[in-house]
Amino acid sequence: MSTSPEAPRSYAESLRLFARASRVIPGGIYGHTSPALTVPGKFPNFATHAEGGRYWDADGNEFLDFMCGYGPIVLGYNHPEVEAAAEKQRRDGDCFNHPTEATVLLAERLAALTGLGWAVFGKNGSDMTTWAVQVAREFTGRKKILRVRGGYHGSHAWCSPGHGGIIPEDREHVHVFQWNDPDTLRDLLARHRGQVAALIASPYHHPAFGDSALPAPGFWATVEELCRRDGVLLICDDVRAGFRLHLGGSHQHFEFAPDLVCFSKALGNGHAISAAVGKAELKVAASRVFLTGSFWQGAVAMRAALATLEILERDDCISRMQRIGERFTAGLRAGAEKHGLRVNCSGPPAIPFMSFAADTGWQRQRDFCAEMARRGVFLHPHHNWFLCAAHTEADIDGALAAADAAFALVAAGEK
Ligand SMILES: Cc1ncc(COP(=O)(O)O)c(C=O)c1O
Repeated sequence: MSTSPEAPRSYAESLRLFARASRVIPGGIYGHTSPALTVPGKFPNFATHAEGGRYWDADGNEFLDFMCGYGPIVLGYNHPEVEAAAEKQRRDGDCFNHPTEATVLLAERLAALTGLGWAVFGKNGSDMTTWAVQVAREFTGRKKILRVRGGYHGSHAWCSPGHGGIIPEDREHVHVFQWNDPDTLRDLLARHRGQVAALIASPYHHPAFGDSALPAPGFWATVEELCRRDGVLLICDDVRAGFRLHLGGSHQHFEFAPDLVCFSKALGNGHAISAAVGKAELKVAASRVFLTGSFWQGAVAMRAALATLEILERDDCISRMQRIGERFTAGLRAGAEKHGLRVNCSGPPAIPFMSFAADTGWQRQRDFCAEMARRGVFLHPHHNWFLCAAHTEADIDGALAAADAAFALVAAGEK
């Protein structure tokens, strides 16, 4: 990895591909990987291959990757044992008329790890959050869903942060309260008493833009108590944080007891799989909510997930990511201070984020991340970052050396 400030990095091929994509794909690149959300022309937009904690873009630039595919890569790209398990299954077949034993093994494993009773599988987080909401409606016979303002639960109409193609009726029964503010939840529950099927929230608040917020002391206990009192089911959306904080789900890390938990991202170390796991008493209602997808029983992703869970546990990867993350955020804080800059590091160490104080319009943040990209370190200006178990202490130290130079440039720009 080059940390030279002079290192020229061309994104010419990325830009050429983006121009071609724009002609045949609406938006060119859609969703959260759109170039419009980073710094156009200063970040790579197309990848070719990856290994461990690094990837290469279409121009041949190498990056130390702190986005990890926006979360799925938890052990490192192309992990040999995960890929060997996937490859063996690929030779036997992936898509059949029936599920394979791997589906049963994975359901057993997730039920045991989470302390809940059963599991079902899909391909994306949105598949599972939407289905979990339906299960709650089926079980309670109620319509209303409560969620946290600014929280993200996927791209489906009831929760999408977008507006296109959405009609008011899609969200008529979805109401928002404020993270870490139980009074706003109490108000909503009082207003809709007897009508609320479920409350869905991520285990800590990680909005699409900016700083994360951990649960305030007692917040989850209060949420749980209020939900139980009113017969409201609690859905933990662990799609983003799952398997980076606790092997059995982030609810165990933050010590609360949801009725349903949704996973995706890290579960298959890059293989497309999602899961919803639920309490035994919801199993009959769950069996009445139609659930299917052409590829949702795919055996390769099930085998990859089984291998991922085994390695996460065997190698104590979650503690490792925590340690590496602490080294990273401590180094960022110290680096910023050295250059007289005020930063806020937020989120758990394994899913860190850093922002500059009073950075209106995210300008410093964008400059900093563009400078890091120029030095071969890939971060996103306003989406939280992700560490993986393949990152080493030396990687962190390399990233901090790049950050020192990037901080210097940001500080110089302020003078
Ligand atoms: C917390 C959370 N829930 C749900 C989703 C939706 O997952 P997917 O994009 O796989 O549909 C995401 C994706 O980023 C997420 O972070």
